Amino acid sequence: MIPQSFIQDLLNRVDIVDVVGKYVQLKKGGANFMGLCPFHNEKSPSFTVSPTKQFYHCFGCGAHGSAIGFLMEFSGQSYPEAVRELAQSVGMSVPEERDRLPPGQRAEQQARSVALSDAMTRATDFYRRQLRSAPQAIQYLKGRGLTGEIAANFGLGYAPDDWQGLEAVFGSYRDDNVSAPLVECGLLIESDKRDADGKPRRYDRFRDRIMFPIRNTKGAVIGFGGRVMGQGEPKYLNSPETPLFSKGTELYGLFEARHAIRETGYVLVVEGYMDVVALAQLGFANAVATLGTACTPVHVQKLLRQTDAVVFSFDGDSAGRRAARRALEACLPHVADNKTIRFLFLPAEHDPDSYVREEGTEAFATQVRNAMPLSRFLLQSVTEDLDLRQPEGRARAQYEAKPLLQAMPAGGLRLQIVRELADATGTTPAEIEAICGLRSDPARVGRFAQPRPRTRRQAPTGLEQRVIQLLMCYPALSARLDEDARALLLGGESSDSEVLAHLVEACDSVQGEVNFAAFSEHLAQSPYAEVYAVARAAVLREEIEEAPAIQDFDAAITKLLAEPLRRELDGLQAEVVAGTADEAAKQRMRWLVGEIHRRRQLG
Ligand code: UTP
Ligand code: MN
Repeated sequence: MIPQSFIQDLLNRVDIVDVVGKYVQLKKGGANFMGLCPFHNEKSPSFTVSPTKQFYHCFGCGAHGSAIGFLMEFSGQSYPEAVRELAQSVGMSVPEERDRLPPGQRAEQQARSVALSDAMTRATDFYRRQLRSAPQAIQYLKGRGLTGEIAANFGLGYAPDDWQGLEAVFGSYRDDNVSAPLVECGLLIESDKRDADGKPRRYDRFRDRIMFPIRNTKGAVIGFGGRVMGQGEPKYLNSPETPLFSKGTELYGLFEARHAIRETGYVLVVEGYMDVVALAQLGFANAVATLGTACTPVHVQKLLRQTDAVVFSFDGDSAGRRAARRALEACLPHVADNKTIRFLFLPAEHDPDSYVREEGTEAFATQVRNAMPLSRFLLQSVTEDLDLRQPEGRARAQYEAKPLLQAMPAGGLRLQIVRELADATGTTPAEIEAICGLRSDPARVGRFAQPRPRTRRQAPTGLEQRVIQLLMCYPALSARLDEDARALLLGGESSDSEVLAHLVEACDSVQGEVNFAAFSEHLAQSPYAEVYAVARAAVLREEIEEAPAIQDFDAAITKLLAEPLRRELDGLQAEVVAGTADEAAKQRMRWLVGEIHRRRQLG
């Protein structure tokens, strides 16, 4: 965890106009800067950057965030990566968890991680050099239709048929300082057998294989896939999970494909290393592959940070459909109305590599164009093999759909799918929503969902919403709340007061100057992030000057404090109408009317 105080310092120091301006041409327009939104296609600028709020917002597609958010969205970096890059640009260094370790341990940990990266780089170079002097490996790659140029782009190499091949680069494996990092990054295997002197035997994991380096989004090699050239098991050998490499989050080819993804406006997700390389060779440089594992929600999230459109390609056979079904499930938590996810099913005997070679680039491009939208694939897979003419079949389809619908965020697309499912199963959309336990709150629920905060809450409305907006804009306003106001506002039972209590606490804890962007980032880490996002969007639509904000805030608080009085008055009035009010009630009513009036004068 990077401390929030650091994030605040950082966002006070960087200028979002500079950060965004590196990638988007910005023109001054009034208080803000305007440009063409980099996150969706548009002809006239609706993308604004506010220097005062240190925030960007697109009125076209709704993209918004701080400088950190912009870097994450734009370059697909993770939160810590974006923070690190920004910090570097202004000469700050990020304090991290390990800063709390004693300096000695910290240096040791840092040195270890550098050693692993360094080992991977040197191994990659070694395998590449080996490829040049391995005619049979070159022949294999040529035989698969690859040029030297593509092989170089992907850094392909060859691991020689040798149990101690890497000793040529690193020195003797019997030296623990040499072999420890190599074992840790998966290049060496340590056997249970020991030599005469008691040292475990260590040998190369990759031998006589074509080497595919796997790079992270920054281009550093973090793992390898190695393919046998002839027959042999396994066909592909992969790096194990290491401190650098995790299959559930990494995608092969993402680094190499990043420009093409941006240019073509979509990413193609395939199943194999060879598919990625072959597609790049044949005109589809925007392809990436999962690493012999099912597609995970993290993969999908990573992809959707780079582009709005994902096309998955699967074999048409049953294994392909199973993999597609897993991918569908991984996508559901991340669907959004401004993203498109589609599924392409090739004829059973083909993978993308063989298909493009046999049928040609045009034929594959047509397959991509005709790929099945996620909605259709979902509806198809929940009705598969069912007889919808029978009540049992229709009920079963709804049963199958339930977890999938629950995994989707509420939104336009889910609603459309609910409608289609309703049509297909002779039900109304409202009935589907009831059967499937879909709520209209924007938070995700269901078995694929993130852990959620305890209670269900609705977006605050009216006055409370206004108070939230004003506090987000000017956290210092919280100092204007006296004890009475706090007791009333924060002690309430409503879900709104839960948010308010959190926000006021956050405002109170902010020390010194904090800009809107920094404070927004802070709030985005809270369980109420969704409520804050709504309030923030409203803040961004209007300029609120500080003086009117103070007035507005005081007035809203006064009105809020009067609300319980008003409710009490309403109740008593009902008693009067029903003829059940006694004298005490009437007296109380007169007092309430006066008090409400008095407060209105104040407010
Ligand atoms: P495929 O068997 O479909 O191979 O495995 P491929 O990509 O078409 O490769 P070529 O064309 O025969 O060279 C698809 C993916 O599954 C993983 C790899 O990531 C591979 O790219 N896999 C496959 C393994 O990890 N190990 C294996 O033994 C086989
Ligand atoms: Mn293949």
